[in-house]
Amino acid sequence: MTTIREVAKVAGVSYATVSHVLNNTRFVSQETRDRVMAAIDELDYRPNALARSLRSGKTDTIGLILPDSSNPFFAEIGRSIEDAAFELGYNVFLCNTDGNVHREQLYVDLLSKKQVDGIIFVAAGDQVDSLNALLNDEMPVVLVDRDLPNIEVDAVLTDNRQGGYLATRHLIELGHRRIACITGPSSITSGAERLTGYRQALEEEGIPYDKSLVLDGNYQPDAGLRATSILLELDSPPTAIFALNDLMAVGALHAAARAGRRVPEDVAIIGYDDTELASFMNPPLSTIAQPKNEIGLQAANILARRITNKSFPTYRIILPPELVVRESTSPDAVVVDQEVMYRSNTDGLMPNAQKEME
Ligand code: RIB
Repeated sequence: MTTIREVAKVAGVSYATVSHVLNNTRFVSQETRDRVMAAIDELDYRPNALARSLRSGKTDTIGLILPDSSNPFFAEIGRSIEDAAFELGYNVFLCNTDGNVHREQLYVDLLSKKQVDGIIFVAAGDQVDSLNALLNDEMPVVLVDRDLPNIEVDAVLTDNRQGGYLATRHLIELGHRRIACITGPSSITSGAERLTGYRQALEEEGIPYDKSLVLDGNYQPDAGLRATSILLELDSPPTAIFALNDLMAVGALHAAARAGRRVPEDVAIIGYDDTELASFMNPPLSTIAQPKNEIGLQAANILARRITNKSFPTYRIILPPELVVRESTSPDAVVVDQEVMYRSNTDGLMPNAQKEME
């Protein structure tokens, strides 16, 4: 393997000059730089990343710890993070925890051994031990998507409570009163906060909270399928279902079809995330959009800043969710300037139609 010394000899310069050319650490004249680059090409020299990182103390890599990159939401988040990291000069190590805190700890240990420059961290649950270990080692970390209690760390989150409120308010405005909710894993703040928004919208409208309409989910399609089948078998089934993520809403659509129920006529269904699959469902899925590209861009940039300056004050940003209305809640609904409007039978548009439910 060609070394820097051999490059220096062929170029007729010092070892230090070749190092300055490779690392841009000092001015080198264009004529000398050209000689060095010609020698690198002639000898097919490949910089030794490990040697370089030992010298600079940086590896130009970051870790990305996610629950499940096969979930379209995390796939889209992961892609926006990787795009932003690439522009910033970082490679990304992707780690899937499957929501398992022990696997999360293993990955934290592995990434520390790999000496990544920083970590973007989506918590597997509500345990703070792994994150605290990283912070105690002064590893730059940005928390994304799920908050963790009592911990001082950079974070890029979205307003899940507002998202849960918007989804439920939309169903109420359509005239629904028996609104079911399929929740996320209880140990994860994103689902708990959306459920709070659901309860707030019901309470504001004077609709009693009915526990028989709130079933546990786990953010997977089969949980949506199972819960919806149970709900539709109730003596007084809900006329609307709010699933706390799109994957469970897809399961709910499947359950409604299997039960011979029309969506939205017999049961309206709304999800959360607005992943790419939502608009291709049959009927297209109403949902709450999370700003996935913005989340990824912010997370990568905040981490890059933390890597270069560990003394910055902690930076937490909470991004707004957005209601996206499609046919799974109302075939007449369109969104005009952020307001849900409804096609009346005179082909006009009227706001906030109170539709009579049978
Ligand atoms: O779909 C996975 C869910 O878990 C998303 O809603 C995301 O916010 C995460 O919390």
